[in-house]
Amino acid sequence: MKKQICCRFTIKSLLIINLIIASNCLQAQVTTISISSRDHVILLQTDKNERLRTIYFGEPLNNESEYSAVADSYDFNDANAGIYNAAYTPAGTWNLSEPAIQVVHADENTSLELTYESHTVEEIDSNTTLTSILLKDPNYPFQVTLFYKVWKNENVIEQWIEIKHNEKKAVRLLKYASANLYFANKEFYLTSFHNKWGKEMQPTQEKLLRGKKTIDSKLGARTMLLESNNFILSLDKKASENEGTVMLGHLAWSGNFKLEFDIDSYENLRLIAGINPYASEYLLPNNEVFKTPSLIYALSNNGTGEASRNLHSWAKKYRLLDGQGERLTLLNNWEATYFNFDENKLVELFKDAKNFGVDMFLLDDGWFGNKYPRNGDNAGLGDWQENRKKLPNGIGYLVKEASKAGVKFGIWIEPEMVNPKSELYENHLDWVIRQPSRPEVYFRNQLVLDLTNPEVQDFVFGIVDDLFTQNPELAFIKWDCNSVIYNAYSPYLNKNKLPQSHLYVEYVKGLYKVLERIRAKYPKVPMMLCSGGGGRADYELLKYFTEFWPSDDTEPVERIFMQWDYSHFFPSIATDNHVTNWGKQPIKFRIDVASMGKLGFDIVADDLTEADMQFCKQAVSNYNSFKNTVWHGDLYRLVNPYENEIAALMYVDSDKSKAIVFNYLVNNRQNINVTERPVKLDGLDSNKRYTVKEINLSSGTRSPINSNKVYSGDFLMKIGVNPDINLHRTSVILEVTEVKD
Ligand code: DGJ
Repeated sequence: MKKQICCRFTIKSLLIINLIIASNCLQAQVTTISISSRDHVILLQTDKNERLRTIYFGEPLNNESEYSAVADSYDFNDANAGIYNAAYTPAGTWNLSEPAIQVVHADENTSLELTYESHTVEEIDSNTTLTSILLKDPNYPFQVTLFYKVWKNENVIEQWIEIKHNEKKAVRLLKYASANLYFANKEFYLTSFHNKWGKEMQPTQEKLLRGKKTIDSKLGARTMLLESNNFILSLDKKASENEGTVMLGHLAWSGNFKLEFDIDSYENLRLIAGINPYASEYLLPNNEVFKTPSLIYALSNNGTGEASRNLHSWAKKYRLLDGQGERLTLLNNWEATYFNFDENKLVELFKDAKNFGVDMFLLDDGWFGNKYPRNGDNAGLGDWQENRKKLPNGIGYLVKEASKAGVKFGIWIEPEMVNPKSELYENHLDWVIRQPSRPEVYFRNQLVLDLTNPEVQDFVFGIVDDLFTQNPELAFIKWDCNSVIYNAYSPYLNKNKLPQSHLYVEYVKGLYKVLERIRAKYPKVPMMLCSGGGGRADYELLKYFTEFWPSDDTEPVERIFMQWDYSHFFPSIATDNHVTNWGKQPIKFRIDVASMGKLGFDIVADDLTEADMQFCKQAVSNYNSFKNTVWHGDLYRLVNPYENEIAALMYVDSDKSKAIVFNYLVNNRQNINVTERPVKLDGLDSNKRYTVKEINLSSGTRSPINSNKVYSGDFLMKIGVNPDINLHRTSVILEVTEVKD
């Protein structure tokens, strides 16, 4: 029996479909589906019961017609507990391993079977295909469609699921993962990232052994406060920067998530990733579609470096808002003033911003609230009117004054939150997530607004809309989110007789709806995603944001490690780094570290010595000369600070004519000796000739590096260049420039 294959017709997709049909004819009743990028293929195949299984995840074969024979080389027919390699494992029938989906039908029946029905392959453009595979329950009008969007050249895959049914009443979805992958490799190494405030992205690498490893969040909002939705999976052996098969995984969801790694009895790996089913049973009415978030992953057979470059170039081209555009350097006043400022002080700071040479001044927390002025973090949140004492002439005046000083003006908001000490709380208790009959529990003295409620969505949209309507020249928004959801209970869901178990999912969807409206009206204005540091950074939100704040920890040595880890998943154009007073490093070191991303300052100019101020100005001007290479070039992580006394990272222009190399000392022991070996560069053209010049030198210092010497790219990549890092030269930036004849 041949299943119907429907397809939107493009010549290429017809070819693919023909291949699939051909393979069907050779092996009656077996459908083999290949989901291929340039260097990778996922093979799916039906078994004798029409269930779809993953039979291969690895390098593509030269001859596609051989795909249908792959499964014979493995033993995938375990009858003890169902089949482990189901492409999307249903619960309640034959499969007793961890399910990807679990439902209760309208008639209260808890069984689900999913068999292959048809699939389509759509060629979106020459680099992008979308494969959708329809699975149906033979006994119930219930269906699941698996989606695989592939960017061939970047080797990036985005996977999600759509669930739909036509049963008489709503179906209860108990678990509804985004992806269910299967890997039949020899060994698996997982790097997961663990977080807390000021210590985001702390990596742990482990060999996965039999049993289950779970990374998850149940925090509701600020969901990455403790664990990260990013992971690195090495297949067969530990991957290094330039060797090994590796997957960089990322769940693009801003709410509760769950990543389950399960080594089965064949020592193969099952990966199930998606929304955390914890307290999230979802009632799906008939004929409505439930779309899961996406699991996004970049693959490489040449180590984590290439996988990161793939993911970065995908993000910049296809995902991050304005990923190929420009960014604004800035002076922020958070650590310079905290809540203690007024109009006059700010106007003085505008002059400092101009003096530093940055593009913008960013006014942080503390500018609003009148009955309950926002003079600390315990009051005012929710009352988005300018505080009349601090800002008697309002935001409009500040925007104008900033413009007079020659800088743009941006502003901080935290629109999803409320302090109990606020007019908003007094007037709209029904907008607040809280258990009606229990004591309130606060995180940073605040509570979370009920974004499941369309009125709250209007309110949040209105905060941004009012700011832009009243101040059309407003250039930037920093959107913060400092609280988790305690006492999860939605007054809106209760009033509308909807299940409380929708809260975690509908909160996030409500947030996306607001951002969708903001971007429909204000498509371009840059916005920074912040969450009490880096409690929220995901590729669903980054459709709406141009950048994110990785951490409040700006101590520059710590920051080198953190930026190293974040750089696996996010391009530097998306990563905001500020020069602050954290740490004891000289201003040059702090600026050099912050320059590996979008540069900002959060320091008091008056506290700087004249020499340091001069250096800052020079450094901003230097940054402007190389920022395009950092923002738009390719990243090569050269020397790993976890394994060495120094760190080195390099950005190379796409035409390989210019590169910037950052080198830092990360160990301050007196007896350190790190000048013995050169740093090997990467990503250059072997046949081109280059000079290497040290830039951003502190005034009065001379570089030991001879900038007149000409090297071949070959030399620089095989022998390298010695940045001569030592206790007196702790940070060195090198500019590599092609010598044209
Ligand atoms: C947390 C952020 O991470 C900080 O940068 C700052 O904006 C504060 N919130 C303001 O309350």
